[in-house]
Amino acid sequence: MNKPRILIGISLFVLLVAGCAYTITTQRSLAFAPISNTQSATSTTSQNTYTQADIAQHNSESNCWTSIEGGVYDLTTWISRHPGGPQAIIGLCGTDGTDAFNGKHGTSRRPRAALILLKIGILK
Ligand code: HEM
Repeated sequence: MNKPRILIGISLFVLLVAGCAYTITTQRSLAFAPISNTQSATSTTSQNTYTQADIAQHNSESNCWTSIEGGVYDLTTWISRHPGGPQAIIGLCGTDGTDAFNGKHGTSRRPRAALILLKIGILK
């Protein structure tokens, strides 16, 4: 009889669907999670700690760091790629950019997604 084969086939299919569903929901929750919740999920480099004085030393267009909500970000490569123009980003170099970022972008999804990729550590 083919019954055992059919049962094995159905089991494999159910496992495949469950695996796909798990992968999709995991990736979604990472993509939409607020910054603070993703710190533990990002790479080990995000655990480097810096003071505001460290950030103040990276205050130029060619070497541009900022802090936003306790995270530290290297914005150097973002200056020329920012859809809102370079000046808005240059203004953040060496400073705490929390108010400027939230004032313009708040909880908007795309700016938050761009920010996560620029993260280099957290504030001490
Ligand atoms: C590190 C900080 C920032 C990041 C990562 C960032 C990221 C982005 C992204 C991804 C967009 C495109 C949004 C979309 O297509 O939906 C955008 C647009 C824009 N950003 Fe920023 N941004 C930052 C800081 C700022 C600041 C401080 C300002 C102004 C004070 C600003 C002004 C704008 C403007 C005017 C636009 C054009 C379209 C719009 O209004 O959304 N950005 N930014």
